[in-house]
Amino acid sequence: MVTTPPLLFPWSEIYSVKIGIVDTQHKNLVNILNELHQAMLGAQGKDKLGQVLLNLIKYSQVHFAMEEKLMQSHGYTDFPAHKAEHDQLASTVLEFQRKFLSNEVGLTVEMMDFLKDWLSKHILDSDKKYGPFLNAKGVF
Ligand SMILES: [Fe+2]
Repeated sequence: MVTTPPLLFPWSEIYSVKIGIVDTQHKNLVNILNELHQAMLGAQGKDKLGQVLLNLIKYSQVHFAMEEKLMQSHGYTDFPAHKAEHDQLASTVLEFQRKFLSNEVGLTVEMMDFLKDWLSKHILDSDKKYGPFLNAKGVF
């Protein structure tokens, strides 16, 4: 019997920040993270892993830029700290990608857990903080 391994990050409504475009993009990010995890478990080749990793990096750049524009344009006071969290993660992942492409490291369960933990905590703590602020500005 073929069994599919459980998803790394099953989406749940507890992650909703009550802003449509943010939730949509968070779901897409979660899907890419799950895809990377499945590819790792399926022992996919380095080309495939590198491709999904690149998708994750590119999409997180698009998503962070969208969130930052949203926060900044509405004068969100925690913007600098929030942006710093994005920048920190982006540089960690780019450094990982560099090592991955130069065969210094492989994609591991630890790295997948780190990404999952970062994203879930960031959504639940930091993104959920701007939800009510933006909702009050008429952003849903
Ligand atoms: Fe964020």
